Amino acid sequence: MSATAGPDCVPRHVAIIMDGNGRWATQRGLPRSAGHRQGVEALRRTVRAASGLGISVLTLYSFSTENWSRPQAEVRFLLELLRRFIRTDVAELHQSNVRIMIIGDRDGLEPSLRKMFEEAEALTRENTSLKLVIAFNYGSRQEITRAVQVLARKVADGKISPQDITPAVIGNHLDTAGLPDPDLLIRTGGEQRISNYLLWQCAYAEFVFLPEFWPEFDAASLARAIDIFRSRDRRFGGLKAQTA
Ligand code: IPE
Ligand code: IPE
Ligand code: MG
Repeated sequence: MSATAGPDCVPRHVAIIMDGNGRWATQRGLPRSAGHRQGVEALRRTVRAASGLGISVLTLYSFSTENWSRPQAEVRFLLELLRRFIRTDVAELHQSNVRIMIIGDRDGLEPSLRKMFEEAEALTRENTSLKLVIAFNYGSRQEITRAVQVLARKVADGKISPQDITPAVIGNHLDTAGLPDPDLLIRTGGEQRISNYLLWQCAYAEFVFLPEFWPEFDAASLARAIDIFRSRDRRFGGLKAQTA
């Protein structure tokens, strides 16, 4: 299989590593928290732009399993920002027919936060436009580990045999079960690394690294990333498409 993405092709699933909030703020002599606050504005712009483009799935990395190692005050601020976002934006997202899903480890999170996640998901479950997937307390290695533990338990209980474990079965035990793999992975902030994000799912994603910091990201940045995506020749291990 081979496919040049093509001039009009819209990636079905776009995943974003929203990076650079802190540096954006520091450059302006502001506290890092100001960068995170502006980051929420960029997130709102991006959801609107993705909906307008007809993207089916938008997965946003909002907090990694490793981000707990930041100073307590910053962690607390980020958690409060997420709570505030859910409180203020879910109704409007629901009106826009957006389905909200949260991936990541919920064990050990405050019960009130878990309840907010469950309510947002339940309210928007039937919505059919954009799927907005928020990766919170998410780490891909931890996600894969959890999946392996569930599968090992099924083998130990005699429900399945080791031969039943295929790549598709593993995929169905990840938090992203049922979602298509990302076609395009965007990282803002200039770093060129994946930081424990969607390691399994990005096997054939196109990576686009943008220099701008996340608070600067807007519809034009998304369009630029999609233009780069369209110029790529996706080969999936096959050969370049014949143009004759
Ligand atoms: C991304 O921005 C937001 C989170 C990781 C929660 P950063 O906070 O990582 O900003 P930089 O990379 O330090 O600039
Ligand atoms: C990745 O950014 C996590 C999120 C954007 C939520 P980080 O800023 O945590 O990644 P590293 O530490 O630079 O790899
Ligand atoms: Mg960062």
